[in-house]
Amino acid sequence: MDLHTDFRRYLCPTSAEPLGLTIERAEGCFLYGPDRRSILDFVSGIAVSSVGHGCPEVLRAIAAQVERHLHVMVYGEMVQEAQVALAKRLAEIAPGDLSMTFFCNSGAEAIEGALKLCRKATGRPRVVAFAGGYHGDTLGALSISGEPRYQKPFEPLLPEVHLLPFDGLESLRAIDERVAAVVVEPIQGEAGIRVPGPDFLPTLSARCREAGALLVLDEVQTGIGRTGRWFASEHWSVIPDCLVVAKAVGGGMPLGAFIARPELMHTLASDPPFAHVTTFGGHPVSCAAGLAALRFIEQQGLLKNAETMGSYLRNAMSALAGVKEVRGLGLLLGVVLEEPSLTRAVLRLALERDLLLGDFLNAEGVIRVAPPLVVSRELCDRAGEILAESLKVARKR
Ligand SMILES: Cc1ncc(COP(=O)(O)O)c(C=O)c1O
Repeated sequence: MDLHTDFRRYLCPTSAEPLGLTIERAEGCFLYGPDRRSILDFVSGIAVSSVGHGCPEVLRAIAAQVERHLHVMVYGEMVQEAQVALAKRLAEIAPGDLSMTFFCNSGAEAIEGALKLCRKATGRPRVVAFAGGYHGDTLGALSISGEPRYQKPFEPLLPEVHLLPFDGLESLRAIDERVAAVVVEPIQGEAGIRVPGPDFLPTLSARCREAGALLVLDEVQTGIGRTGRWFASEHWSVIPDCLVVAKAVGGGMPLGAFIARPELMHTLASDPPFAHVTTFGGHPVSCAAGLAALRFIEQQGLLKNAETMGSYLRNAMSALAGVKEVRGLGLLLGVVLEEPSLTRAVLRLALERDLLLGDFLNAEGVIRVAPPLVVSRELCDRAGEILAESLKVARKR
């Protein structure tokens, strides 16, 4: 069996040039290939593997849950300890009085749920989102995407979606009493890690309150410790009406969630009942893994490590020849190249030297740096050296 041939023959491609690396095993910050090749993972499966690959605490929690039970019933009907415990822990770490969770399976699904919640709770039609934003690829999430080229082939999409410029204060006046939801990433991930100025999120939050529009923070990529706080919105002390998480929240298992105040969440339970349900949402194995991951992050002080290693990496990478600037917070970084056309070459050269970096869906000339939050100074040094060498070779050609 030639795995690569079968990969190309049987799996639907998402681009003409997939990475196509065969992975046999993964541990800590490393991915291992069949030829015992070890690749330093500075992407974390797109901000998922925050506790490192194969975290023993997470694996033990998964094994224990598998012994007890797998799926037993659709979300919301039966009392399953793993779900309850994770929802309770999320209520403890979520900002303000957000204390009730709806579990689903992915980021896009959580965004869909949040959109439906806001429409139902307000009875209003309109959704405001931001240019450059990314919220997933289901039709509703795609409708609020800030990148029209991904939308065009799939039109018509949801009506009544209005895009505003990210980090623009003036245009926030467009948020009025027709708006049900304003969906925003506190730091735009796929736009190449765009961190807004100090006033944007607080002003946006105040404008939503004035207009009676519900503020939905998409922390799918920024949440669960990635920026050195449980949630990136804490950097601006902004409390949303609805918080959306996925990626790292399942500790490497598929899981998404939206979290809001109980009075808002209760609108989903009636008129009609079962208006928003899911078979696999909050799978007990995913919830057990997620809870173990949250415990691990806390016990190992990974929020602090994300902050310390983040500034260390940022300083080291900012100083490299060929780097214009490094954007981001904690271990969610975007390295902006002086010559955007070198991006692909730099990524390829780094991978040849066994360092996995990435690019972004909605940004040219920016390199994705998002290692597991367990990353050490030594591994940051190694990544910095490989990036320096890759930049040097790419610029010479
Ligand atoms: C900010 C943000 N929202 C939503 C999503 C969609 O998540 P998923 O791929 O789990 O559907 C992503 C995925 O990258 C994301 O970065």
